[in-house]
Amino acid sequence: MRTPLIAGNWKMNGSLAANAALMAGVLGDAAAVKAELAVCVPAPYLAQAQSVLSGSRVRWGAQDVSAHENGAFTGEVSAAMLLEFGCSCVIVGHSERRSYHAENDQQVAQKARRALLSGLTPIVCVGETLHEREQGATDAVVTRQLTPVLDAIGSQLASIVIAYEPVWAIGTGKTATPEMAQQVHARIRAMLIERDAVQAQQVRLLYGGSMKPDNAKDLLAMPDIDGGLIGGASLNASDFLVIAHAV
Ligand code: PGA
Repeated sequence: MRTPLIAGNWKMNGSLAANAALMAGVLGDAAAVKAELAVCVPAPYLAQAQSVLSGSRVRWGAQDVSAHENGAFTGEVSAAMLLEFGCSCVIVGHSERRSYHAENDQQVAQKARRALLSGLTPIVCVGETLHEREQGATDAVVTRQLTPVLDAIGSQLASIVIAYEPVWAIGTGKTATPEMAQQVHARIRAMLIERDAVQAQQVRLLYGGSMKPDNAKDLLAMPDIDGGLIGGASLNASDFLVIAHAV
């Protein structure tokens, strides 16, 4: 039995004041939510998340992590640093990192590995562009993105979270239909089963890409959709909570 996870990806949004209001709003009703809740906040606000969310049932994490342990990597943030601020999870391989920062599949795999070795849950993002979908390449792209991750993490399969985020659905208001999303999720589950049939059943597969209060229920009803990675709608406490209650 997989506990559903609803994770917010705030992206590069927020301020001390806005975050305080948002987190207070989420905490207001978090206790009534059955799903596990997490927010992935910009790195400078991790201390704020730690101080506000400690002791609550909302976990927090970052949006990226260095593949390196420490050293001369200007601008990077290490897994050990995230742990000091109480993070339990970190997004890796988000499509915005892949496209704007040229992160490749191997780098994403190393980041996922580093996170796991440090005791953080990596939320590994995969997903195709519109062009790739139109070419019928969705399965090939997801397989290409996920294979190095699965190779890199070895026997720790059950400790990762995977988010299927079709790039064409992110921030566009276009959502994959529940059936389209389930089809890819089932393909991902099959890939995991090939590695380890028992652990594969424990891995949460999140859907991300314009998940909103009005479409969350149908998406989350699918057998292999175990939660959501929520961008825009996670910036509004009541929208985020409606999605969480849809589990
Ligand atoms: P969105 O973003 O919900 O705004 O589409 C999801 C994501 O990029 O994680």
